[in-house]
Amino acid sequence: MKEKQSYLTQLKQQLRYHEYQYHVLDTPVISDLEYDLMMQELKNLEEKYPALITNDSPTQRVGGLPLKIFDQVYHDTPMLSLDNIFDKANYLSFDKRVHKILKNNETLMFCCELKVDGVAVSLLYENGVLIRAATRGDGKIGENITTNIRTIRDIPLRLFGDNIPERIEIRGEVFMTHKNFKKLNENSKRNNGKIFSNPRNVAAGSLRNLDPSITAKRSLSFFCYGFGSSYGKNLPDSQYKCLIQFKKWGLPVSDKIKRCQNREQILSYYNEIKENRLSLGFDIDGIVIKVDSLLLQKKIGFITRAPRWAVAFKFTNQEHITLLKDIKFQVGRTGIITPVAKLEPIIIEGVTISNATLHNFDEIRRLGLHIGDTVVIHRAGNVIPQIINVVINKRPINSLKIQLPRYCPVCGSNIKCIDNGVVIRCTSGLICAAQLKRTLMHFVSKRAMNIEGLGNKIIDQLVDKKYVMTVADLYLLKVDILTSLNRIGYKLARNLINSINKSKEITLAKFIYALGIREVGETTSINLSINYANLNSLMNTDIESLKEIQHVGEKIASYIINFFNDKYNIDIINKLINEIGINLQTIPDKKKDNKFINKTIALTGRLSCLTRNEIKDKLISFGAKVTNNISKKTNLLISGNFGSKTKLLKAKKLGIEIINEDHLMKLL
Ligand code: IVH
Repeated sequence: MKEKQSYLTQLKQQLRYHEYQYHVLDTPVISDLEYDLMMQELKNLEEKYPALITNDSPTQRVGGLPLKIFDQVYHDTPMLSLDNIFDKANYLSFDKRVHKILKNNETLMFCCELKVDGVAVSLLYENGVLIRAATRGDGKIGENITTNIRTIRDIPLRLFGDNIPERIEIRGEVFMTHKNFKKLNENSKRNNGKIFSNPRNVAAGSLRNLDPSITAKRSLSFFCYGFGSSYGKNLPDSQYKCLIQFKKWGLPVSDKIKRCQNREQILSYYNEIKENRLSLGFDIDGIVIKVDSLLLQKKIGFITRAPRWAVAFKFTNQEHITLLKDIKFQVGRTGIITPVAKLEPIIIEGVTISNATLHNFDEIRRLGLHIGDTVVIHRAGNVIPQIINVVINKRPINSLKIQLPRYCPVCGSNIKCIDNGVVIRCTSGLICAAQLKRTLMHFVSKRAMNIEGLGNKIIDQLVDKKYVMTVADLYLLKVDILTSLNRIGYKLARNLINSINKSKEITLAKFIYALGIREVGETTSINLSINYANLNSLMNTDIESLKEIQHVGEKIASYIINFFNDKYNIDIINKLINEIGINLQTIPDKKKDNKFINKTIALTGRLSCLTRNEIKDKLISFGAKVTNNISKKTNLLISGNFGSKTKLLKAKKLGIEIINEDHLMKLL
């Protein structure tokens, strides 16, 4: 048996070596037939000696029954996204910013990579063996797609070589080549099956298919572009060297990665890739520029969702021609009126496009748009369609010049031109139904007052029928008013009233966010609630004290001051607090001692009685700052079930106190 075992080990090693030659180095040393024969031999032996089957065997890619659902996975470190830039000027500001942050006037090394247009995945290797794979999800929590990822032949089930960390989370992009995409659609057409719109959608759909045998048939590919956390061995000190190291361990890395040390080199890399993109054989939507040194990356740091040391320099997309049928004017939450182009519907990359936003009125002038014009559009960053040109020689005689609105298109109030007419704003505030509707939608939303069930269609009716004129009116709604609306029965009405009442108990942070103060998002709201003992002290603060708060500069500070100087806003807040009885859970008196006040707390794993968001909100309400990562600044780690080993080990190493769920509950 021992002999058989060592023969099997040898056979597996050989197969892995050939997979590496084929998938990573793109230089197979044996024919496909020889490979298949070797694989068949391994299969036969494993069938005969099932006890010798290991999870990392090349035969074990597809296995198991279809799943019912995907489990949730907490990423050890969040999977961030990238800021996009679209032109040379944007790139130069990025370069300038990075140098400024580093106080460096010299040349800096950057690692330039392809921005593959696929699906981001995280691959967790423990002692070199792939133990878990996950989608990005919301960046913090993804879905466990291990069984599907195992079917992708580009992805090694076991890493080989030197210096492999005990635990490392590899990140990269799963995608489909043009060749495989074409083959798939041809096959599907032959079998009267579904025709897929683009390779990215197939990759995304295949990874989220509950049946791994379907994923296995899709021939997906993979490129690795980085790592999340790593424990147990030192990694090289630069992005480029890390990628080279990963390639040596058997992970596919694009051979187009390049180190550049000045702007000229980066711009010529961009132009070269852009020109030759069609010959790559798979879709890319730009390049990614990353500061090469990992130490400098750390120094430069992150903003909420993206690193400041990297950007995606996107290619502008393919252009299409359609007809401009009309221009409608939309009123946003803060009264800004935006022109929206109504287009003759056109299908671009499988998506029907019938609207395009024109960011402001200057754009109408700049483009010289007329209704009836033939226009050139593209989908910027592959998402928002934009008009980029007018085909003047196709302009019909009866085309109409676009008239700017003289009054608000929704409430008829006067409008105010700002910035020489570039921005137009309705002056009537929340008297304007459009602004009121959007304010209400924001107020009731999940991360604000979290009034479940109160959707946009109900809000439209409540405003149109004048049952609700301010956010405070929501709390005065009665069952009979709700049942008089379309499609609302008694039971739904009761549930709505219950969720409205439930929202009366709310943290100060969420309430501030719900107020919808310009540019005050969730993070700023939390910071404000930590820094002010209660709503009154925030309402009576001054610009200078506001500016001392993280993320609050002159502009946001003045928006906050203006908001609380407006009598209309103050009346509504007073009504909500004093008459309706909204109870703001503020952070306890700072003099009172509680274990969490001013502490930086990290979480790992799941708790049985509270969700991650609930526990986060609770800790914030005690004055804590909650983070995902462990650093020297962390004071406490809360460890639930299935937590990250890396986090626990790191916390131990840094001497950080670790408590479990029972202990936490006692303290709370
Ligand atoms: S780096 C913190 N590098 O682009 C850095 N991302 O818009 C995060 N992507 O979610 C990502 N190619 O799915 C990076 N060479 C590359 C990439 C790349 C494609 C995707 C990735 C990410 C998205 C961000």
